[in-house]
Amino acid sequence: MKRFLATLVVLTMCFAMGSAVAETLRVGVSMPTQSLQRWNQDALYLTENLEAAGYEVDLQFADNDATLQLSQVENMIANGANAIVITAVEASSLGTAMDLALQMGVPVIAHDRLIVNTEALSYYASFDNYKVGMVQGQFLIDALGLAEGNGPFNMEIIAGDPGDTNAGYFYAGAMDLLTPFIENGQLVVPSGQTAFDVVATPTWATPVAQARFDTIIAGYYTTGEELHAVLCSNDSTAMGAINALTNAGFTEDNWPFITGQDCDKANMQYIVSGKQAMSVFKDTRTLAARTLSMVKAVLEGSEPEVNDTTTYDNGVKIVPSFLCEPVFGSAANYVELLIDTGYYIEIDGEFFTQDDL
Ligand code: BGC
Repeated sequence: MKRFLATLVVLTMCFAMGSAVAETLRVGVSMPTQSLQRWNQDALYLTENLEAAGYEVDLQFADNDATLQLSQVENMIANGANAIVITAVEASSLGTAMDLALQMGVPVIAHDRLIVNTEALSYYASFDNYKVGMVQGQFLIDALGLAEGNGPFNMEIIAGDPGDTNAGYFYAGAMDLLTPFIENGQLVVPSGQTAFDVVATPTWATPVAQARFDTIIAGYYTTGEELHAVLCSNDSTAMGAINALTNAGFTEDNWPFITGQDCDKANMQYIVSGKQAMSVFKDTRTLAARTLSMVKAVLEGSEPEVNDTTTYDNGVKIVPSFLCEPVFGSAANYVELLIDTGYYIEIDGEFFTQDDL
């Protein structure tokens, strides 16, 4: 009898363990690159949130290589992922992986960046990307006093990666506000470079933005022309402008207003010292929590909360989305926005995340 009971106990434990193993669902998280600060933070918060919710996480970074990302996502599916979270390197280059996800019944959530031309995308969690651009454009209108009729002022534009749908929304949000002032002559773009394709920065990389800005300075600002504003879509491109202006000998006496986005650690130093006028803070903790709630809902067979069902047409369907709120950030409010909320720690003028220390 004792032996029977012991066997029963062991068998019960095995079943319990077996079922526990079988119930651990796996979530693939495909991030674009580690070379831009924010994707390290998104990866960290996504992993923390998913693991705390009991999921196993298969995290991969794609080194900004769309082909690599495609094979990484295909491998995640082959390795049994139950759901996949993707921030696309290129919105339109995930076709065969998305087809596979559809075929295998693996739900896909787009995190921050939309994935286009596919039926397989279940939901999209992002920020209001058009509004990010509006915050940047409105900042320049206020800083230059354009609504009061001031000008003319010289401005140049650095936009984002044309393979990332967000880049077009950022550009449109800002340019829809600024174009009337270009048309009435209060804003002048001496390089003449205003079209999205011309001002775009493939891969969003600082050296790419810097190289283009070096050429603009050499071509249009070497004989005393003033530059009053640089509309940069994010902090990595703003860094390119800052480096180019510094190398060309611009000083605080003739330094332009420079916009950005993300409140990257390196840029925060420039915001505090006045070299970068503003950034747009997008709290990656909020976005990771939103993406987690979408993953949970699709895996539990329920409907996640969305707040936009009209904007994000991916060419095949309008993707139900939750858009978080972007927030204006500058030297005036960064302490309450970033330090008091524990996003960064500031030590001797440098910015760190908890993870850095
Ligand atoms: C994100 C931005 C980021 C950029 C480059 C965009 O898709 O929305 O926050 O600055 O990619 O990483």
